[in-house]
Amino acid sequence: MNITETTLKELEETKDRFWNISKETGDFIEFLIKVSKAQNVLELGTSNGYSGLRIALALKETGGRLTTIEYWDKRQSIAIENFKKCGVDDIITTKLGSALPVIKEELQKEVFDFVFIDANKAGYIDFFHAIHPLLTKGGIIVADDVISHKEQVKPFVEEITKREDYAAQILNLPDGVLIARKNKGH
Ligand SMILES: C[S@@+](CC[C@H](N)C(=O)[O-])C[C@H]1O[C@@H](n2cnc3c(N)ncnc32)[C@H](O)[C@@H]1O
Repeated sequence: MNITETTLKELEETKDRFWNISKETGDFIEFLIKVSKAQNVLELGTSNGYSGLRIALALKETGGRLTTIEYWDKRQSIAIENFKKCGVDDIITTKLGSALPVIKEELQKEVFDFVFIDANKAGYIDFFHAIHPLLTKGGIIVADDVISHKEQVKPFVEEITKREDYAAQILNLPDGVLIARKNKGH
Protein backbone atom coordinates (compact mmCIF):
# COMPACT_ATOMS: atom_id res chain seq x y z
CA MET A 1 0.00 0.00 0.00
CA ASN A 2 1.25 3.50 -0.76
CA ILE A 3 0.92 6.43 1.68
CA THR A 4 -2.39 7.62 0.23
CA GLU A 5 -3.96 4.16 0.45
CA THR A 6 -2.68 3.76 4.03
CA THR A 7 -4.01 7.20 5.02
CA LEU A 8 -7.44 6.49 3.50
CA LYS A 9 -7.60 3.16 5.32
CA GLU A 10 -6.65 4.79 8.64
CA LEU A 11 -9.25 7.53 8.17
CA GLU A 12 -11.92 4.95 7.33
CA GLU A 13 -11.16 3.19 10.62
CA THR A 14 -11.67 6.41 12.68
CA LYS A 15 -14.66 7.72 10.71
CA ASP A 16 -17.09 7.75 13.66
CA ARG A 17 -14.81 10.01 15.71
CA PHE A 18 -14.51 12.59 12.95
CA TRP A 19 -18.03 12.24 11.46
CA ASN A 20 -16.62 11.33 8.04
CA ILE A 21 -18.67 10.18 5.09
CA SER A 22 -18.80 6.45 4.47
CA LYS A 23 -16.34 4.79 2.08
CA GLU A 24 -19.29 4.10 -0.27
CA THR A 25 -20.24 7.80 -0.33
CA GLY A 26 -16.58 8.64 -0.97
CA ASP A 27 -16.52 6.20 -3.89
CA PHE A 28 -19.68 7.82 -5.26
CA ILE A 29 -18.34 11.37 -4.95
CA GLU A 30 -15.04 10.43 -6.61
CA PHE A 31 -16.95 8.83 -9.47
CA LEU A 32 -19.24 11.85 -9.87
CA ILE A 33 -16.36 14.32 -9.96
CA LYS A 34 -14.60 12.29 -12.62
CA VAL A 35 -17.65 11.79 -14.87
CA SER A 36 -18.73 15.44 -14.51
CA LYS A 37 -15.11 16.55 -15.05
CA ALA A 38 -15.57 19.04 -12.19
CA GLN A 39 -13.07 21.89 -12.12
CA ASN A 40 -13.89 24.03 -9.11
CA VAL A 41 -15.27 22.23 -6.07
CA LEU A 42 -16.46 23.70 -2.77
CA GLU A 43 -16.81 21.60 0.37
CA LEU A 44 -18.58 22.74 3.54
CA GLY A 45 -17.31 20.75 6.55
CA THR A 46 -13.70 19.59 6.15
CA SER A 47 -13.30 17.70 9.45
CA ASN A 48 -10.01 15.73 9.27
CA GLY A 49 -10.02 15.80 5.48
CA TYR A 50 -11.31 12.35 4.52
CA SER A 51 -13.92 13.54 2.02
CA GLY A 52 -11.62 16.35 0.90
CA LEU A 53 -8.96 13.78 0.13
CA ARG A 54 -11.42 11.66 -1.86
CA ILE A 55 -12.51 14.80 -3.78
CA ALA A 56 -8.92 15.93 -4.39
CA LEU A 57 -7.85 12.52 -5.69
CA ALA A 58 -10.62 12.75 -8.30
CA LEU A 59 -9.65 16.36 -9.09
CA LYS A 60 -6.07 15.27 -9.79
CA GLU A 61 -7.60 13.46 -12.78
CA THR A 62 -9.89 16.29 -13.92
CA GLY A 63 -7.30 19.02 -13.36
CA GLY A 64 -9.55 20.86 -10.89
CA ARG A 65 -9.26 22.51 -7.49
CA LEU A 66 -10.98 22.24 -4.10
CA THR A 67 -11.87 24.92 -1.55
CA THR A 68 -12.92 23.45 1.79
CA ILE A 69 -14.29 25.22 4.88
CA GLU A 70 -14.07 24.11 8.53
CA TYR A 71 -14.63 26.12 11.70
CA TRP A 72 -12.88 23.80 14.16
CA ASP A 73 -9.17 24.67 14.01
CA LYS A 74 -7.93 21.35 15.45
CA ARG A 75 -9.77 19.39 12.82
CA GLN A 76 -8.60 21.69 10.07
CA SER A 77 -4.96 21.21 11.17
CA ILE A 78 -5.34 17.43 10.93
CA ALA A 79 -6.90 17.81 7.48
CA ILE A 80 -4.01 20.00 6.28
CA GLU A 81 -1.52 17.36 7.47
CA ASN A 82 -3.47 14.62 5.66
CA PHE A 83 -3.60 16.67 2.44
CA LYS A 84 0.18 17.26 2.58
CA LYS A 85 0.95 13.62 3.37
CA CYS A 86 -1.02 12.49 0.31
CA GLY A 87 0.40 15.15 -2.02
CA VAL A 88 -2.90 16.89 -2.80
CA ASP A 89 -2.31 20.11 -0.83
CA ASP A 90 -1.27 21.91 -4.03
CA ILE A 91 -4.86 21.83 -5.35
CA ILE A 92 -6.66 22.56 -2.05
CA THR A 93 -7.47 25.89 -0.41
CA THR A 94 -8.45 25.39 3.24
CA LYS A 95 -10.54 28.09 4.88
CA LEU A 96 -10.98 28.38 8.64
CA GLY A 97 -14.31 29.81 9.70
CA SER A 98 -18.03 29.42 9.69
CA ALA A 99 -19.19 28.37 6.23
CA LEU A 100 -21.88 30.98 5.64
CA PRO A 101 -19.78 34.11 6.36
CA VAL A 102 -16.82 32.59 4.51
CA ILE A 103 -18.99 32.07 1.41
CA LYS A 104 -20.50 35.55 1.69
CA GLU A 105 -17.30 37.43 2.49
CA GLU A 106 -14.54 35.51 0.68
CA LEU A 107 -15.99 33.50 -2.18
CA GLN A 108 -18.31 35.89 -4.02
CA LYS A 109 -16.01 36.10 -7.06
CA GLU A 110 -15.81 32.29 -7.40
CA VAL A 111 -17.86 30.06 -9.68
CA PHE A 112 -18.23 26.43 -8.60
CA ASP A 113 -19.36 23.46 -10.67
CA PHE A 114 -19.57 21.01 -7.74
CA VAL A 115 -20.50 21.68 -4.11
CA PHE A 116 -20.43 19.12 -1.30
CA ILE A 117 -22.48 20.10 1.77
CA ASP A 118 -21.54 18.30 5.00
CA ALA A 119 -21.44 20.96 7.76
CA ASN A 120 -24.13 21.58 10.42
CA LYS A 121 -27.38 20.08 9.25
CA ALA A 122 -29.76 22.90 10.24
CA GLY A 123 -27.61 25.21 8.12
CA TYR A 124 -28.16 23.34 4.83
CA ILE A 125 -30.99 25.64 3.70
CA ASP A 126 -28.90 28.79 4.25
CA PHE A 127 -25.85 27.17 2.63
CA PHE A 128 -27.99 26.35 -0.39
CA HIS A 129 -29.22 29.93 -0.75
CA ALA A 130 -25.65 31.23 -0.49
CA ILE A 131 -24.24 28.69 -2.96
CA HIS A 132 -26.98 28.92 -5.58
CA PRO A 133 -25.73 32.16 -7.23
CA LEU A 134 -22.18 30.79 -7.37
CA LEU A 135 -23.10 27.46 -9.00
CA THR A 136 -22.75 27.06 -12.76
CA LYS A 137 -25.58 25.84 -14.97
CA GLY A 138 -25.11 22.07 -15.00
CA GLY A 139 -23.37 22.33 -11.62
CA ILE A 140 -23.89 19.60 -9.04
CA ILE A 141 -24.75 19.76 -5.34
CA VAL A 142 -24.19 16.70 -3.15
CA ALA A 143 -25.43 16.79 0.46
CA ASP A 144 -24.72 14.10 3.05
CA ASP A 145 -26.92 12.93 5.96
CA VAL A 146 -30.29 13.73 4.42
CA ILE A 147 -31.81 10.51 5.80
CA SER A 148 -29.92 10.28 9.14
CA HIS A 149 -30.74 13.95 9.90
CA LYS A 150 -34.03 14.10 8.04
CA GLU A 151 -35.73 16.62 10.34
CA GLN A 152 -32.82 19.08 10.47
CA VAL A 153 -32.33 19.13 6.68
CA LYS A 154 -36.05 19.18 5.84
CA PRO A 155 -36.26 22.86 4.74
CA PHE A 156 -33.33 22.30 2.33
CA VAL A 157 -34.64 19.01 0.91
CA GLU A 158 -38.15 20.38 0.49
CA GLU A 159 -36.92 23.46 -1.34
CA ILE A 160 -34.40 21.85 -3.68
CA THR A 161 -36.74 19.00 -4.65
CA LYS A 162 -39.60 21.36 -5.55
CA ARG A 163 -37.61 23.95 -7.50
CA GLU A 164 -37.89 23.86 -11.27
CA ASP A 165 -34.31 24.97 -11.79
CA TYR A 166 -32.93 21.88 -10.00
CA ALA A 167 -33.31 18.14 -10.58
CA ALA A 168 -32.76 16.34 -7.28
CA GLN A 169 -32.71 12.74 -6.07
CA ILE A 170 -32.08 11.14 -2.70
CA LEU A 171 -29.83 8.11 -2.90
CA ASN A 172 -29.88 5.26 -0.46
CA LEU A 173 -26.20 5.49 0.41
CA PRO A 174 -25.24 5.32 4.13
CA ASP A 175 -26.86 8.30 6.00
CA GLY A 176 -28.71 9.29 2.80
CA VAL A 177 -27.13 11.41 0.09
CA LEU A 178 -28.93 14.06 -1.94
CA ILE A 179 -27.66 14.81 -5.43
CA ALA A 180 -28.96 17.75 -7.42
CA ARG A 181 -28.15 19.34 -10.77
CA LYS A 182 -28.75 23.01 -11.50
CA ASN A 183 -30.54 23.01 -14.82
CA LYS A 184 -30.94 26.76 -15.35
CA GLY A 185 -28.87 29.84 -14.65
CA HIS A 186 -25.48 31.12 -15.66
C1 LIG B 1 -19.82 15.70 9.20
S1 LIG B 1 -18.32 16.51 9.55
C2 LIG B 1 -17.54 16.65 7.98
C3 LIG B 1 -16.91 15.36 7.54
C4 LIG B 1 -16.10 15.49 6.27
N1 LIG B 1 -16.87 16.07 5.20
C5 LIG B 1 -15.64 14.12 5.85
O1 LIG B 1 -16.50 13.33 5.44
O2 LIG B 1 -14.45 13.85 5.96
C6 LIG B 1 -18.87 18.16 9.75
C7 LIG B 1 -17.76 19.14 10.02
O3 LIG B 1 -18.27 20.42 9.77
C8 LIG B 1 -17.82 21.32 10.75
N2 LIG B 1 -18.84 22.37 10.78
C9 LIG B 1 -20.10 22.27 11.26
N3 LIG B 1 -20.77 23.39 11.01
C10 LIG B 1 -19.93 24.23 10.34
C11 LIG B 1 -20.06 25.52 9.80
N4 LIG B 1 -21.18 26.19 9.88
N5 LIG B 1 -18.99 26.05 9.18
C12 LIG B 1 -17.84 25.35 9.07
N6 LIG B 1 -17.65 24.13 9.56
C13 LIG B 1 -18.69 23.56 10.19
C14 LIG B 1 -17.70 20.48 12.02
O4 LIG B 1 -16.73 21.03 12.90
C15 LIG B 1 -17.27 19.13 11.46
O5 LIG B 1 -15.87 18.95 11.48
